Amino acid sequence: MDVQKYLKIAKETADAAGEILMSQRGTAGIEHKSRLELVTQADKDSEHLCHERLTTAFPETGYLGEEGTSSNPGAELQWIVDPLDGTNNYAHGIPNWSVSIALRKGGETIVAVVHAPALGETYTAVQGGGASLNGEAICVSTIDKLVRSVVVTGFPYDRGENPQNNLDHFKAVALKVQGIRRFGSAALDLCWVGVGRFEAFWELRLAPWDMAAGWLIAKEAGARITNFSGGPLADPPTHLLCTNGLVHDEMMAALAENPAWKADE
Ligand code: IPD
Ligand code: CA
Ligand code: CA
Repeated sequence: MDVQKYLKIAKETADAAGEILMSQRGTAGIEHKSRLELVTQADKDSEHLCHERLTTAFPETGYLGEEGTSSNPGAELQWIVDPLDGTNNYAHGIPNWSVSIALRKGGETIVAVVHAPALGETYTAVQGGGASLNGEAICVSTIDKLVRSVVVTGFPYDRGENPQNNLDHFKAVALKVQGIRRFGSAALDLCWVGVGRFEAFWELRLAPWDMAAGWLIAKEAGARITNFSGGPLADPPTHLLCTNGLVHDEMMAALAENPAWKADE
């Protein structure tokens, strides 16, 4: 299978979606999906373009997008797309947002693109082929102590209703690290572990489209990705921990300090 031909079209699609999103900044009509979750016209236009381009180029593939577009669900190759990851940032003029495109085969991502046009950053990876930022190979950091680490997380939209809302985990980790951040695009958070800016990223209840592409990019850059107990991720993941590998054990120990957390959740 020639993964490069899928990567080429995925990258061109992400570029075109990025142009739509850049051109609609500050103008896109905002709707509320739930009390805290937004969707803009730009999300929908980007989704439409991604679906059109990817499935026209590869009619054998299926497609699942965050904004409800789905086709050919039984296909062996599935595109998993977040047409705009970081909608809240986008709507507030904050540049940390991205288009996230993954191609999955048998539940595993084999091609990934995370494109952040307002930052001038495009991350790509193919399974077994390493990961890159704007064409240059990337690698996780070599920091091996949590006290020297800068880490990042996110909070689920149902944080008001679900008591497992990451606030206790946040407190446990915040007291052990050099710095802690919340940037608002899970896809980019994973890439930023891959490029060595963060030593660790964790989050609860991510959707497949939030993490499918970033997962491969981080992994191909040398990251270790597990659930909070060091085991394999559920699909979709209930909890995900991505680190440079060197601070993984310390991060698991810190997350386990949340008194309300049960390891099998
Ligand atoms: C969200 C972002 C955010 C994460 C949320 C996601 P959206 O995606 O990735 O960083 O904390 O869990 O839902 O709604 O901006 O596409
Ligand atoms: Ca998302
Ligand atoms: Ca989204």
